[in-house]
Parts: sequence; structure tokens; C-alpha cells
Amino acid sequence: MKALNYGSLNIDFVYNVEHFVRSGETISSQNMAIFAGGKGLNQSVALAKSGIDTWHAGNIGEDGEFLAEILQKAGAHTDFISRLPGRNGHAIIQKQPNGQNCILLYGGSNRQNTRTQVDEVLSHFEKGDYLILQNEINEIAYIMERAHEKGMIIVLNPSPMDEKIFTYPLEYVDYFLLNEIEAKDLTGFDVCTEKEGIETDALLDAVCSHFPNSKVVLTLGEYGSIYKDEKQKIHQPIVKVPVIDTTAAGDTFTGFFIGSIAKGLSPKEAMQIAAKASAIAVSRQGAAPSIPELNEVYDFGR
Ligand code: RIB
Repeated sequence: MKALNYGSLNIDFVYNVEHFVRSGETISSQNMAIFAGGKGLNQSVALAKSGIDTWHAGNIGEDGEFLAEILQKAGAHTDFISRLPGRNGHAIIQKQPNGQNCILLYGGSNRQNTRTQVDEVLSHFEKGDYLILQNEINEIAYIMERAHEKGMIIVLNPSPMDEKIFTYPLEYVDYFLLNEIEAKDLTGFDVCTEKEGIETDALLDAVCSHFPNSKVVLTLGEYGSIYKDEKQKIHQPIVKVPVIDTTAAGDTFTGFFIGSIAKGLSPKEAMQIAAKASAIAVSRQGAAPSIPELNEVYDFGR
């Protein structure tokens, strides 16, 4: 069984700022750093480190060769990464002292997938293999249609959320991993959530009743995450650590959760591992470089 992550590879330009730039304002950053990132790449790094056979598909531009090297180093296969002329996708990330960020994306190479390419990549996968998707590349609906025909298990992290999501065949999704805002946008549920309270449960129920064939993980930031399928609901608190940088915390959670499920662990075990892995990630700088090895996750908090 293999995991195919068809997703973005970004160059992250990270600027440390006192506060996010406001409309009409010009501010200076304290420093900047360049990291490998992209929700796709980050999740592939986490999947590979969780110990599952991971294949990343996507495109890199002329300035993005180091991204493929980072995936290889993490143990992911890069045979299905195409090299294209022109600029790689990138992200401009502002990071505040409290570790929170805001992100501006440039699609570049990430938005140049073709159906011929998709058909070729998917010809190497079969029923029971996992397909992991986020929302930073083009041709997602087509990838989902073809993967569903093959009987692949489809995982969608609908991030960043936009109106294109509603054009995808969401009924084919086996696992949704999403945050509160994405869950509200996806379901139209507009009650103000009180995180740990009844409203959060109602929001999760709304996602599950919209997508009755899907298993759902709702992430709630500092309030942890909740998993729900037809038999069980599991609440997983966060593991508290000093927050340095929250970039890629969600990607780390997704990769370790799905990797653990694909390895045959129970949802409860997978949630625990994912929570520990993302806690380690927020205690470090950067996106992909912050993602821990599996042994670090097992040793964490012992
Ligand atoms: O989820 C974090 C990622 O979002 C960053 O690495 C950035 O590239 C954007 O895709």
C-alpha cells in the first residue's frame, strides 16, 4: 500500500514582523529566512517521516530544485515531480512574535498540472492506495475523479479554502482534515463556535451529515482536535509547548495522522501521534524543517 500526495511545493519567504502589515501601511521586518514549504510538500515530508511509503506528485519551477532534494531526504519518492520552465510556486509569510502567521501564495508551477500528467501518475497506483490532496494546485477535481475510479482512498485537507472546493466531487472523500473555518465554509454552519462546547460538536456533526461516507478530523488550534466516524468520536487535546512558529503545524498533523492510519494504527493512536508531531513542529522554526522524525515523536513527553 502506497500514499500518493498530489500537491504543492513552495518556496517560503518568511519575514519576522512585530505585527501583520495593515492596509496602506509599510513596515520593516526584523529578518527573513527561506524555507521549503507548501502544504503538499510539508504533508509529504510528514507522511514519509511517519513511516508510510510516500510518493509526491507535482511540479517545480527553475528555482525549486532544492524542494525535491528535501523530499528525498525525508524519504519520499520524487519520481512524479516534473521540472517546468518559469517560477516555482512561493509563499510570502509574515510571522509575529507569538508564532502566528499570515500567508500570501503565488501558484506558479503548482498551477500547471495537466490531465496527461495526472493520468500517467495515477497509472502507478491502485485500489487501496491513499491519495492525499490540499487546495493549492489545479486539476483537483480531475485527480479525484480518476482516483475514485481506481478505488483509491481519498484524503482532502481543503486548505486554503476557496470557492473552487465546491466544484470538486466531495462525495468521494474518505477523510476530511479541516479546521473550524473550513468546516463552517464547507457546511454553511454559521453559529459562533465556543471551541470546547456544544457548538463545536454541532459543527463536527454538520460536516459528518454533509458527508455521511467520510471520516472527519476537525482541528481546533489550542483546543486540540476531534475525530469522528460512524462508530466513534475521539477528542485529542494539544500537547502544550512553547510556540515558536505555527507554520506547517496542521500539515504535520495531517501527514502523521494519515500515515499512522495507513500503517494500521487505530484513530485514537493516530490522533495521539499527530498531536505530538505537530507540537514538536510548532516549537521549531519554518515549515518543512520543523517536521520531526518518528523516533522524536515516540520519545516526546516520555
Ligand atoms: O501550511 C503551511 C504552508 O502553507 C506553508 O509552507 C506555505 O507554503 C503555504 O502553502
